[in-house]
Amino acid sequence: MPVTNFQTPEKYQYLNGFLNYHEAEAIEGALPLGANSPQKPPLGLYAEKLSGTAFTAPRHENQQTWLYRVLPSATHSAFVAYDDAGATTLGSPLKHIPNQLRWDPFDLDHEHDWVRGLRYAAGAGDPGMKTGLGIYIYAAGRDMDANTALYSSDGDMLIVGQHGVLDIQTELGRLLVRPNEIVVIPRGIKYRVTLPEGPVRGYILELYQGHFTLPELGPIGSNGLANVRDFQVPTAHFDEDTTTTWSIINKYNNELYVAKQGHTPFDVVAWHGSTSFDHPDPSIYTVLTGPSDHPGTAIADFVIFPPRWLVQEDTFRPPWYHRNTMSEFMGLICGDYDAKAGGGFRAAGASLHNVMSAHGPDASTWQKASEAVLQPQKIGEGSMAFMFESSLMLGVTQWGLETCHKIQPAYSEESWSGLRPHFKRSS
Ligand SMILES: [Fe+2]
Repeated sequence: MPVTNFQTPEKYQYLNGFLNYHEAEAIEGALPLGANSPQKPPLGLYAEKLSGTAFTAPRHENQQTWLYRVLPSATHSAFVAYDDAGATTLGSPLKHIPNQLRWDPFDLDHEHDWVRGLRYAAGAGDPGMKTGLGIYIYAAGRDMDANTALYSSDGDMLIVGQHGVLDIQTELGRLLVRPNEIVVIPRGIKYRVTLPEGPVRGYILELYQGHFTLPELGPIGSNGLANVRDFQVPTAHFDEDTTTTWSIINKYNNELYVAKQGHTPFDVVAWHGSTSFDHPDPSIYTVLTGPSDHPGTAIADFVIFPPRWLVQEDTFRPPWYHRNTMSEFMGLICGDYDAKAGGGFRAAGASLHNVMSAHGPDASTWQKASEAVLQPQKIGEGSMAFMFESSLMLGVTQWGLETCHKIQPAYSEESWSGLRPHFKRSS
């Protein structure tokens, strides 16, 4: 969201308003009407939800965006440690010292790109606990590698440019950020930074908890400080590329990971940010909740998926593809779970989809549900699945990763690599 100080070149089109509800479509008719997850979204697109807050966050805070894209985010290989980190100092331990500190101007950098030029400088708290913040100095001298995108699971990144111009392609559209402008890249949004005017340098504040919002006005009155209209969001812009191999880099608990995928992440044709139609949020099945001190956002929810009737019309009935700001640990007591037909999620097993890790129905479940006749249907007969959902980022023990010998190495590939594009530019 750059501040609107200047005229912007035409290829960057914006909608005005901070935290407003917005809709954008790059092709007319790409947004479904009256439903978020219809059984067959327009133009053969996949529906995918990006949760910016807990499903149950109060309405005035609730932030969710629905994306309509060529392929869901879940279609990627496993993440592995990213070992080409250049000058980054991510993951460095913090020292707490009482001395006054002051820095000379930080150097420009002609060698590294945006990812390798992120220097972790200071911070407090812990992204795994969704508490606190990180402060970074960035300095980069070249475009991010071709066919590479970055996202952070750790928080919202407020980028304050000091030198140079950032051309940022995001899943929701394109942004041009010049000196004296700021931009916020929300948690989970993939982006790619190129440098149209050479080296860049500046500061980043990453907020591990909650989201940035406008300051209250109080005695200043209604026209002071920043106003809603000072901020802009991009309009939908998409590439159609399902043949190139892309690297998706994830900043996760202050370390970098990388996964590969055979399609561009910038394939969102339309989106909107705000239901008797549509698969409900799983929060309607909450049994017990362990609240945090923030209304609607739980340290831990216990949610069950018992046998139940599905009666929604014109709806894709299994859970939608999504990326969640919360962590989801699921178990199965007995029977089969309706979102996974492949047999990999079995009674006494478990799954974990952590903060912003993309997931959703596997390819065969998608196929069946897109073609199903939508009569009232009882599902989960004889089954009982459950979820521990948490606003915190969950760590996994060495026992869980290795010693117990139960990890399925091909889980991601088996579930989502079979998804194919069905996008047609007109219906
Ligand atoms: Fe989920």
